[in-house]
Amino acid sequence: MKKHIAIAIDGPAAAGKSTIAKLVAKKLGFTYIDTGAMYRAFTWAVLEKGLNPQNAEESCSIIDSTTIRLTNNNDVFVNDVDVTKKIREPFVSGNVSYIASYKPIRLALVEQQRAMAKYQSVVMDGRDIGTYVLPNAQLKVFQVASVETRALRRYKENAEKGIDTSLTSIAEELAKRDYIDSHRDFAPLRQASDAILLDTNEMTIEEVVEAVLKLVHEKVGL
Ligand code: CDP
Repeated sequence: MKKHIAIAIDGPAAAGKSTIAKLVAKKLGFTYIDTGAMYRAFTWAVLEKGLNPQNAEESCSIIDSTTIRLTNNNDVFVNDVDVTKKIREPFVSGNVSYIASYKPIRLALVEQQRAMAKYQSVVMDGRDIGTYVLPNAQLKVFQVASVETRALRRYKENAEKGIDTSLTSIAEELAKRDYIDSHRDFAPLRQASDAILLDTNEMTIEEVVEAVLKLVHEKVGL
């Protein structure tokens, strides 16, 4: 049986994980899986139904009726509604960390994430991939940058997407999300003991991709 490879990229909000994971996956011919997009999609579903994302019981009530699907083009669907653009809007970003702290929602999404990594080689990015979702991943990277660097990166990314937000509000939102993500009880954001720390403050996208590919070569032999 062919052995599938898993590469886990974790780290705080807007550290550039998805940009790097996408490029590395393309280079290796692996499937890129954006687990944050799944939590964002669930958050969109909660808000769309008029439910309160800060209420665990209300939010969890739609687990059975909510299907989230990622396409090969990285488009995101909730019950056949294309939410690819909507899930990047501030009203979703501002609420996603509450949704991601509810264990029943995490269990449902993690099951789907593990299933996707079972039948293909993946580069998966998120918060708990190396610690919880794929603890046996052949390579684990923990990608960080200062909150100032990350806010600037997200500001530029949002501007390109036509999402209007101020630099200050982005920095506040990132810091708040990091706090909630690292203090939740179940599968919090933290570096796995066997993950390699990559400080990307002074690195270009090309340099980070290069560094990850070098690690893939050393650790996985590809
Ligand atoms: O792109 P950005 O770094 O802003 O965030 P994301 O990767 O889209 O993730 C959005 C949110 O989903 C995070 O702030 C976490 O609250 C949650 N998340 C999580 O809890 N576990 C994951 N594996 C991925 C995301």
